[in-house]
Amino acid sequence: MTRVLLLGGTTEAAAMARALAEAGVDAVYSYAGRTEAPVAQPLPVRVGGFGGVAGLAAYLKAEGISHVIDATHPFAAQMSRNAVEACAEVGFPLIALEREPWQAGEGDRWTHVPDLAAAVAALGEAPRRVFLAIGRQNLSAFAGAPQHHYLLRLVDPPIEPLPLPHAEAVIARGPFEVAGDLALLKDRRIEVIVAKNAGGAGAEAKLVAARELKLPVVLIDRPLVPERRVARTVGEVMGWLGR
Ligand SMILES: NC(=O)c1ccc[n+]([C@@H]2O[C@H](COP(=O)([O-])OP(=O)(O)OC[C@H]3O[C@@H](n4cnc5c(N)ncnc54)[C@H](OP(=O)(O)O)[C@@H]3O)[C@@H](O)[C@H]2O)c1
Repeated sequence: MTRVLLLGGTTEAAAMARALAEAGVDAVYSYAGRTEAPVAQPLPVRVGGFGGVAGLAAYLKAEGISHVIDATHPFAAQMSRNAVEACAEVGFPLIALEREPWQAGEGDRWTHVPDLAAAVAALGEAPRRVFLAIGRQNLSAFAGAPQHHYLLRLVDPPIEPLPLPHAEAVIARGPFEVAGDLALLKDRRIEVIVAKNAGGAGAEAKLVAARELKLPVVLIDRPLVPERRVARTVGEVMGWLGR
């Protein structure tokens, strides 16, 4: 009997959930619980961490899971590592639904950096107006560069004071459109964008807008994840499930 655990929190996971529901596949959608009002899914949902590799392995056995689909964000590396280890431990098949990273095209002014610390350094000493499009969790990495003015885009209003003295938060949930991002960048007089190389369509608008405005982008490379089977489309994953 097929019973799927879908590790979610992304646009791709929502598309995967729709396909599983439409095909009548028995599946559970898992959210980490980072956002206050996660998007409703057409599958039963569970929320919260599993308790590391051991917790996930125990969950897989207790819930009678047969297949795991890791459709988490490419920067949710801890969850992805845990999934690889737990599935190896219990001998369950795992597939990752992962977007291609973005590639620079003509007119792009991208600087690739390996991590957050390098992104901070790439901004330099002189104060700049920065669109810091990295979500809420890693903002403190930029506390060491308080001279810049930061524009943040967050899913939920911040409940704690921001760790950055000169920051404005715009509350919005993707997917985003180029026209809206162009207007935002112009209105806030943004000089440079810092983003994670997430890939996918939902967050690409800011890069298209940056190209149009000839703005530089500091793009953070993806963290390393152990080797696993990877699919690029929902259809590939359905094929892997034999559907
Ligand atoms: N990182 C990003 O930039 C980003 C962007 C957009 C969306 N997201 C989504 O936000 C969630 C958290 O991302 P993160 O970067 O904080 O992850 P992470 O650092 O890889 O994960 C930290 C811990 O959070 C729990 N966790 C993460 N994803 C989970 C899921 N889908 N279901 C249940 N538990 C989960 C796990 O806890 P236990 O060890 O206790 O199991 C994991 O060890 C993910 O669902 C991801 O897809 C992340």
